[in-house]
Amino acid sequence: MTRHPELLRWVEQVRELCQPSRVYWCDGSEAEYQAVCDRMIADGTAIRLNPELRPNSLLVRSDPADVARVEGSTFVCPSDPEDAGPNNNWAEPEAMRARLRELFSGAMAGRTLYVIPFSMGPVGSPIAHIGVELTDSPYVVANMHTMTRVGEAVLDALGADGEFVPCLHSVGHPLREGAADAPWPCDPDNRHIVHFPEQREIWSYGSGYGGNALLGKKCLALRIASTIARDRGWLAEHMLILKLTSPEGEVQYIAGAFPSACGKTNLAMLRSPLPGWRVETVGDDIAWMQFGADGRLYAINPEAGFFGVAPGTSEASNPNAMATLRRDTIFTNVALTPEGDVWWEGMTDTPPAEATDWQGRPWTPASGTPAAHPNARFTAPIHQCPAAAPEWSDPGGVPIDAIIFGGRRAETIPLVQEARDWAHGVFLGSVMGSEKTAAAAGEVGALRRDPMAMLPFCGYNMADYFAHWLRLGEAAGRRLPGIYHVNWFRKDAQGRFIWPGFAENARVLKWIFQRNRGEVDAVDSPIGRLPHTGDIDLSGLELDAATLAELLEVDSTGWRREIARIREHYAQFGQRLPARLREELERLERAL
Ligand code: OXD
Ligand code: MN
Repeated sequence: MTRHPELLRWVEQVRELCQPSRVYWCDGSEAEYQAVCDRMIADGTAIRLNPELRPNSLLVRSDPADVARVEGSTFVCPSDPEDAGPNNNWAEPEAMRARLRELFSGAMAGRTLYVIPFSMGPVGSPIAHIGVELTDSPYVVANMHTMTRVGEAVLDALGADGEFVPCLHSVGHPLREGAADAPWPCDPDNRHIVHFPEQREIWSYGSGYGGNALLGKKCLALRIASTIARDRGWLAEHMLILKLTSPEGEVQYIAGAFPSACGKTNLAMLRSPLPGWRVETVGDDIAWMQFGADGRLYAINPEAGFFGVAPGTSEASNPNAMATLRRDTIFTNVALTPEGDVWWEGMTDTPPAEATDWQGRPWTPASGTPAAHPNARFTAPIHQCPAAAPEWSDPGGVPIDAIIFGGRRAETIPLVQEARDWAHGVFLGSVMGSEKTAAAAGEVGALRRDPMAMLPFCGYNMADYFAHWLRLGEAAGRRLPGIYHVNWFRKDAQGRFIWPGFAENARVLKWIFQRNRGEVDAVDSPIGRLPHTGDIDLSGLELDAATLAELLEVDSTGWRREIARIREHYAQFGQRLPARLREELERLERAL
């Protein structure tokens, strides 16, 4: 139990407001996990998978109206709208609080209010932060068990006066006396995912899905943490962290930011085709990074699990992920096979002859609809990943040698370029973008600028975020990581990818590693430093020199077009955009 008067007071206030039928304090135990899983099965929310095929695993089907993060219903509410910036939906904080009080009033009637004390990062790590989520969703409790560290140790670390981020969540579906519950209760018409960065509070109503409901992830570890990081001089980033070991046993740690659908989880877990080179996983989604006394940047993964996209994950694309999911996993919105196992598009070359789709309907390959929802997910613990680096839970974090930015770009952007210096690297991150795939709504190929992959996750004005990045690089005595930009997605005139991608990306990681060690030279160019073509290891790969040259060329015409688009992107930030970034853009233009 807690001795924290402020936490006790807040739980009591929420109990009065939401009117749950009981309050339960989570202890993080295995017995508790099993109890909430049994609860979900009894409620019709979950199905237990065949224990011989998928031990201790569940399939959950959400309401078809509640299947993804809802950026349109996500708000960041500082008192001054300028502090939210063009990258966030803002609402006047007092009006928003009044609306939320209305929504939450009686919202948990007939349900249990679960109190989940959780730590983002190893309990007691100097980089970690504590949150407490109050929720009426057993699904959230089970997922938080896997994705974060939950329980008594967190309350002990919090003590009587420790700092915590209050995270209030309700599915928004009160249960009237005697009424039957929905298998996936939610209130899709009234969803509100709200952040008060000045008070460091999160209120989420109406959705039970992923980042809308597991409030440690995008809400705390990115939107709120990015504002704490701004105030305290560190970085909370939408980045994977990987460990790269050379055949000689030398180690480097690389952090990488990529927008969604760019293969971040695959990169974090790749099996290198280059003999002796090894990639291990520290994290696949979020990195918290602080400068240490030695001037180096240390990163922790604040999470303890993967909440990964299932479709497209296979033995071919990501064998380490497949091994991670063999047991103790919650699958959401995937298909169910007649044997009681899971399936999704891309998992096997041949689909099952029949299955039950993510909405519980009979399905065959002739159905013409996907068996799994495109945003179907798996929730699995990191420690089950065969590629997990032993230091994934090191409280001190790992020293970052390189930061990679990347997007999905069919043209112009080279396979890899190295920033001249930190400020140039911040420029490259600030103009990052990705093209929409055929799977997503909107014009195929339309470019969405997603600076540092933080567009939906930066909890304050992005122009100030760029300034924060620039400032961190200016402090004396720092050994800054090298910054690189990569693009695995270049296409030829016929629309075919010209770089094989996936595990072959290890070849680019090797070049970055060698650059960091000063083992290879690079060529100065108007857009940054580029590899000598002979320095990208193509052994065992059928890729001719001309194609590699094309992947590394400076396409001046394409870059001029790009500059015009960058100018439009920058315009939205007005005078708040750091002058240094405009100077970088002008410098690029002159150099071309
Ligand atoms: C995620 C996302 O779920 O970036 O990780 O949307
Ligand atoms: Mn993400």
